[in-house]
Amino acid sequence: MSRPVDRLSIDDIREDFVPKDSFISRDFARLEKERLWPKVWQIACREEELPRRGSFVTYEIAGEPIVLVRAASGAIKAFYNICQHRGRIMMEPAAGRTNFLFCRYHGWRWSLDGAIEKITDEHDWEGCPTFDKAELDLKPVKVDSWGGFVFITMDPDAGPLSDFLDPIPAFLDCFEFETWRYRWYKTTILPCNWKTALEGFNEAYHVASTHPQILDDQGDDFTRARTYGRHGMYAYPIERRPPGAPASRTGRPVPDDLRPGIVRFFDQMDRTLNAMFTPRAVEASKRLMAEVPPSAAVEVTCDLVV
Ligand code: FES
Repeated sequence: MSRPVDRLSIDDIREDFVPKDSFISRDFARLEKERLWPKVWQIACREEELPRRGSFVTYEIAGEPIVLVRAASGAIKAFYNICQHRGRIMMEPAAGRTNFLFCRYHGWRWSLDGAIEKITDEHDWEGCPTFDKAELDLKPVKVDSWGGFVFITMDPDAGPLSDFLDPIPAFLDCFEFETWRYRWYKTTILPCNWKTALEGFNEAYHVASTHPQILDDQGDDFTRARTYGRHGMYAYPIERRPPGAPASRTGRPVPDDLRPGIVRFFDQMDRTLNAMFTPRAVEASKRLMAEVPPSAAVEVTCDLVV
């Protein structure tokens, strides 16, 4: 009989094998709900979703409802999206703009800073020894931002977001994500464990079969994926064929002029994947043909040892 997942020790972990328990075990999912999701910093929305005073977004993770709101001060605040009267979900799951946070059922209201503002028929509680208005403020959730991404953590003792993300900003700050705006996003519920879905974005092993149309111009599609501290990463090995060349698995040679392949690659990514690359980036790539000589080499640099 296998040992319960919460009794596993380091000796139970095989280095040559990825155990399936973490993907299929209900016990493992239960432990994640107890020990992972309440502890980690996680992305709840983008800053541009909260552009003005009163803009709000709801977020839910592992059954915990959270609301993020732009307060009067301009700061982003996050609270459990739970009415302090009877624990009802407060703001409906959505995004929008409001002058106050509120619960529709009995009409209690809170300021954008989470302070209790209105209790319907408050006089009904007059003289009640257990009624303490100060306890009725919304329960806060820690919130911080990096690169325009708004993170929350439900752990009041969590360290700073910058400590949690380290060393990601050192590699990615140069992309100035805070200046980016999302083009579209889609929220969906997938019939799989969350790690199965996420891992599709942590490897490019699927590219040759799932996106074969980009092999003509993307350079080699081989990548290396690994853990990186508490995070994960994947990267192209430095010896890969450069962008603009066909992948070596096509059997075609590297052309002397890589520019047309780069332009086609940008166009292909925008038209057929409709993500990551924009029409604006496609237009920018076309400038290569006029502003870069045909003989220019593509220099691939990488600080990561993979
Ligand atoms: S349940 Fe929310 S105001 Fe009563």
